[in-house]
Amino acid sequence: MKYPHFSLFCFLLLACFQITASSAQEKEIENKIENVLSKMTLKEKIGQMNQINGRNPTDNLYQQIRSGEVGSMLNIGSPELANQLQKIAKKESRLGIPLVIARDVIHGFKTMFPIPLGQAASFNPEIVEIGARIAAKEASEKGIRWTFAPMMDISRDARWGRIAESFGEDTYLSGVMSMAMVKGFQGTDLSNPSSIAACAKHFIAYGATEGGRDYNSTNVTQRQLRNIYLPPFEKSIREANCATVMTSFNANDGIPASGNEFLLRNVLRKEWGFDGVVVSDWGAIKEMVQMGFCEDNKEAAMKGVNAGVDIEMTSGTYLQNIEALLAEGKIQMKTIDDAVRNILRLKFKLGLFDNPYTNLTSKSSIYSQEHLDAAKQAAEESFVLLKNKNNILPLNNKVKTVAIIGPMADAPHDQMGTWTFDGEKVMTQTPLQALKKKYGKDVNFIYEQGLAFSRDTIKSNFSKAIEAAKQADVVLVFVGEEAILSGEAHCLADINLKGAQSELIEELSKTGKPLVTLVMAGRPLTIAKEVESSDAVLYLWHPGTMGGPAVADILFGKAVPSGKLPVTFPKYVGQIPVYYNHDRVGRPADKTETLLNNIPLEAKQSSLGTSSYYLDAGFDNLFDFGYGLSYSTFEYKNLVLSSDSLSQSDVLTVTVDLKNTGNFQATEVVQFYTADLSGSTARPIKELKDFKRINLKPGESKKVEFKLPIAKLAFWDINNNKVVEPGKFTLMVGGNSYELLQKGFTILQ
Ligand code: NOJ
Repeated sequence: MKYPHFSLFCFLLLACFQITASSAQEKEIENKIENVLSKMTLKEKIGQMNQINGRNPTDNLYQQIRSGEVGSMLNIGSPELANQLQKIAKKESRLGIPLVIARDVIHGFKTMFPIPLGQAASFNPEIVEIGARIAAKEASEKGIRWTFAPMMDISRDARWGRIAESFGEDTYLSGVMSMAMVKGFQGTDLSNPSSIAACAKHFIAYGATEGGRDYNSTNVTQRQLRNIYLPPFEKSIREANCATVMTSFNANDGIPASGNEFLLRNVLRKEWGFDGVVVSDWGAIKEMVQMGFCEDNKEAAMKGVNAGVDIEMTSGTYLQNIEALLAEGKIQMKTIDDAVRNILRLKFKLGLFDNPYTNLTSKSSIYSQEHLDAAKQAAEESFVLLKNKNNILPLNNKVKTVAIIGPMADAPHDQMGTWTFDGEKVMTQTPLQALKKKYGKDVNFIYEQGLAFSRDTIKSNFSKAIEAAKQADVVLVFVGEEAILSGEAHCLADINLKGAQSELIEELSKTGKPLVTLVMAGRPLTIAKEVESSDAVLYLWHPGTMGGPAVADILFGKAVPSGKLPVTFPKYVGQIPVYYNHDRVGRPADKTETLLNNIPLEAKQSSLGTSSYYLDAGFDNLFDFGYGLSYSTFEYKNLVLSSDSLSQSDVLTVTVDLKNTGNFQATEVVQFYTADLSGSTARPIKELKDFKRINLKPGESKKVEFKLPIAKLAFWDINNNKVVEPGKFTLMVGGNSYELLQKGFTILQ
């Protein structure tokens, strides 16, 4: 570069200019907030804190908006209605404060992307951001400017239905993906009419729900909160400016999230500097009464307001009680004013004061080719190849007849997954349709469902399915769970395949034909037996609108699987909770221990094994975090560290040589873990710190580089301070969480 100093100068000047412009803008917004606030009556302020469900609007609703009793709404059915309600708020209410219209846009609006758990398997934050951007564009066309997503609850329990809505078990991966989704929803400018405010939910530890039963209690320690559950929230707020936060339904250690003043005020507001909106989950303020944390709705309103919940979703206790609570001195006016400031700030940032209306005449982007292509890419990248015996996949051109079997091969509704409010099954492309359409010219496809739906137990059509299999060169069996079996409130104590699906696979495997099992599900299922009976297994999650074309191209090798598991798959439900980054234990599993069938009869009271394992399930999981095969193979060599002793302010550079040793151009997710070998508390056996997707041609090699600022090794220590503790560490790099090259390094005092 000819004038490096000049370029740097220009860059800094531009950065300074941008900072000054944005702080001037912020100041202007703060002035506007104070101006509106100064004119508001108490009733109007309380109204802003009231969110109501607009599913079935009545005349009373219009009157409430007119009199300033409603600040935001969710589930408004159409943009026309949204405009009509905005018009009442703007023109007929005393101060003309616009509403914010919200909806659960979780993994797509009309164009459905894979469920978030599937998106996490892509290890590709870029496609997650693109997906959220597309969802924002489509949703905002319909008047929606606020979504209740992303859900960033760490999920280590496959029984919990909402694991589908999560980014899995890992804190780092969830943080990166959450941030990407927030950026996608919010865009670079929240006031752009195609941007929607994101919501970091559920604050906090909701995924640790007891027994995997939704809405249950959690008992996560303060240190675990800090080290495991809070970081994705902190990242989304501090690094991606997430505009809102939702408190969760659960009480952690006896304190309901909506009444947790310490977390909401000290951590969220003071430590992280959050100046956005805190909204309760649906009815969660009132549910504090049911929990026995409050005597009645009035006390619940008091605790919610004082803890720092700005908006109450749907249960109306604020509207009914705040006035009296203020008069009794149980709530301070300043608390109300601050809450209203947060709400007005959101509305100003969204540009709603200037333009609350949705343009009904502009060209729609819904289901545009660009959106469908991105949804297909996301689906392709989300699939995880779990088994591929004798490289049966991809199917080659010797395959002339293929049997397509199973209840999920042509299930347009179910493949969209949980939280599909707006996606339409008529627009969904199923594997059956796509395979026939894309490859039907060269391949003869015979379709026999075998079972009508995932819970079906009627086996009368098995014989037809077996007959089809016998005529085929390869059998594809699509199994899994219907969309409704995962998601909110849809928890399971048994996560085996439902209905007679397992028997169907068994019968098909008896034909001796090469058997490919494809699983569409909202959670990890316990499928050890089915994996054993199949030659290949591809996990599809619920892949969304474009799942079919994505599967078709993967099966025929037009695309190569690259997904990796964002959650550990247990062999048995009894192994739950199960996750790769558990703390070190005093007696780690030693694979020489006795298993159930090796215990002698009348064995004397003795320690059969002295390590942490199950007599029946043994030591291992079915599949570990980070695992996933490709059609190609990769070799890792030459792990090099820039130094093996570092100080706290250093940045460690790590390189590894990655070679594509197979026959396909393919993408490998290179995973980078560290382990803190001893600390002031027991430390996880390893933790993901970074990852990269690397695409290589057959035979191609690349030096992959990671930078690890040592500050990234900080954790919340025995005194609940965030520190990097000096001592010995191990650094590991590889293609999953257990086959890793490793080297040691030391952090100096
Ligand atoms: C309850 C769910 O827990 C939450 O995630 C969702 O956003 C709200 N309902 C609104 O539908």
